[in-house]
Amino acid sequence: MKKELSAIEAKYEAQKIAFGPIYFQSVVALRELGILQFIGEHRRGVAVDAILEKLDVSEYSVHLLLEAAEVLGVVDIEGDMVRISKVGFFLLKDEMTRVNINFMNDVCYLGAKNMTESFVKGKPEGLKVLGDWPTIYEGLSVLPEPAKTSWFEFDHYYSDNAFPDALKIVFRKKPGLIFDIGGNTGKWSFACCAHDPEVRIKILDLPVQLKVAKANATAKNLLDRIEFHAIDLLDADQKIPQGADVIWMSQFLDCFSKEQIVQILENAYQAASPETTLYILEPFFDNQNYPAAHYSLVATSLYFTIMANGNSKMYRIGVMKELVDQAGFEVVETYPLIGDSYHTILECRKKQQA
Ligand SMILES: C[S@@+](CC[C@H](N)C(=O)[O-])C[C@H]1O[C@@H](n2cnc3c(N)ncnc32)[C@H](O)[C@@H]1O
Repeated sequence: MKKELSAIEAKYEAQKIAFGPIYFQSVVALRELGILQFIGEHRRGVAVDAILEKLDVSEYSVHLLLEAAEVLGVVDIEGDMVRISKVGFFLLKDEMTRVNINFMNDVCYLGAKNMTESFVKGKPEGLKVLGDWPTIYEGLSVLPEPAKTSWFEFDHYYSDNAFPDALKIVFRKKPGLIFDIGGNTGKWSFACCAHDPEVRIKILDLPVQLKVAKANATAKNLLDRIEFHAIDLLDADQKIPQGADVIWMSQFLDCFSKEQIVQILENAYQAASPETTLYILEPFFDNQNYPAAHYSLVATSLYFTIMANGNSKMYRIGVMKELVDQAGFEVVETYPLIGDSYHTILECRKKQQA
């Protein structure tokens, strides 16, 4: 059972929320000014004077940022000595923390102010700070920097970790033709080609993304094995072609509302034969081993609201299974938390007609 907070503790928790954004930016500044790295290099601690001597930052900046960092538990201060804490260590060295901070700072921070408006209008009202597109997907390949790098690092960090185990699962039945729906820059398709020299792939995505995927495939000499099919899956008239042994959707369905997911899965249904396997790879927020993963995924839902499209989210595993069922598929196997990742794979087939 959750421990009941005292009124004093609860008031403190409420202030953490009230001042959260400004403390967040203080950590970004601590990192950008090199102060956190410098402290981290001295595991036994370093004198404040040494920081001032070595780094080109004012005394004012160092004092303020260290006071904030101490409040946040990022550093421990004793007398004149500053030491990095365990939390500080993760801020400095942990890849998940690095991509999450950059994603929040470079992609989401300014747009987050438009959260209420985004909910009211059902549109990503924060996206206008990055560009003039109806959803972020039309702008992905032309996002201004550093948003573009941070978006792709965030997306790839989560999916890349899942790929090695996912390859083993998908290639168990040695598929000849895989459709990579929402294939983005082509990373999964290239991993498939490296895994099996005979497999052929069709990447289906919005035209702007396919340009990038095609350029990457050209550089990798894979144009004889990978085809590209431009499609807007929000338009029900644009049909997924038939003929796939495997239809692969990785971190794709979370880009849509429940109604849109059913429409897209129905589109996959008309394309699938009884032998086609549909694999859905998703990080489900209620199917995580660590509280940091659950916390990050729920926050990612809010990114969808303000920046991505205003109507999608990370889902619970049970909700996704219901949507799969509504579209006429059945989940024949669930591979929970594959590899060193946050993802579950749902293996689906068309339901047998009674
Ligand atoms: C979050 S990314 C996932 C990329 C990749 N599959 C992965 O696992 O990293 C979502 C992809 O879906 C594509 N997408 C979004 N809306 C789409 C639409 N309406 N039709 C087709 N593709 C779309 C985006 O262009 C993007 O490449």
